[in-house]
Amino acid sequence: MILTTETNTEVNNQFLNETITGLSAKPKYMHSKYFYDEAGDYIFQQIMNMEEYYLTDAEMEIMQYQADQIANVISDGSDAFDLIELGAGDATKSIHLLRKLINKKLNFQYFPIDISAHVISDLSVKLPQALPELQFTGLNGDYFDMLKAANETSDRQKVVLFMGANIGNMNVDEAEAFCVKVKALLSPDDLLIIGFDLKKNPKQILDAYNDKSGITRSFNLNLLNRINRELEGNFNLDHFEHYATYDPETGECKSYLISLENQVVNIGEHAIQFQKNEYVYMEISQKYAIAEIERLAHRSGFKVQQYFFDSRQYFVDAIWKVA
Ligand code: AVJ
Repeated sequence: MILTTETNTEVNNQFLNETITGLSAKPKYMHSKYFYDEAGDYIFQQIMNMEEYYLTDAEMEIMQYQADQIANVISDGSDAFDLIELGAGDATKSIHLLRKLINKKLNFQYFPIDISAHVISDLSVKLPQALPELQFTGLNGDYFDMLKAANETSDRQKVVLFMGANIGNMNVDEAEAFCVKVKALLSPDDLLIIGFDLKKNPKQILDAYNDKSGITRSFNLNLLNRINRELEGNFNLDHFEHYATYDPETGECKSYLISLENQVVNIGEHAIQFQKNEYVYMEISQKYAIAEIERLAHRSGFKVQQYFFDSRQYFVDAIWKVA
């Protein structure tokens, strides 16, 4: 079953409004959540297969080898629960955990939530094939609307999964506000499992977001293509350049598009001016130290239950409990 709240027109209106607001701001910015149209999903798959992009392998290793222990933490003291995954994607990592939970004969429902409609419809084909016993309801829409919807369907214990370092797409303050909002929708003893990319050698991090083959570059530029297609834009992609930075002090990995000339870009009725060398802030991928994760948990009303690291300690899946 698939539930959806937003119509295409609403989604498009919001895309237009947020795009114009961002490009009218000083400095200009765009929202990385709009990277994931069908072309963007495809490029992101290629990113995950890149040699330089260590994140996916690292979290996959955690799920492959430690799903049993994670399942034990989840099942400890709960006989029935809802497993709600924010940004489920193709669920290739969470499927390991789902399999363990099924093998332990636990009584649970899976609610994958994704803002991408075709991600959810792909999942509704793939999941029954991979795990015929799995009971699930795909939710297409905003995380919090859908979390509320899941809350209203049952009062069972909630286990929220937020993997893939998706929390990295928020800066530290936004991440705290996000966790506070999640916590407000949870009850005592509910769990939040979050994947964080850890601070490490700065060059290794930068390489993951500045690959030589230019896949990350086309991931960024694809948003301009999407605006051209969906919002009647006329971006010339040759007039913009991908630029990535990593600051080892703050853990902020950021990407920008740099305007290569003075130019005017039309988006529907709107005309946007770009100066030569002006930057558009596209995305943050925040990296964390363990102490910073601990601090985030406490400040948003959770206590850390357990950490699960990959063998190289590049990545961590942290299990938090509502404090
Ligand atoms: C999907 C947010 C985890 O920040 O690493 C990958 C997105 N951007 N390469 C990340 C992304 C450029 C990715 N997340």
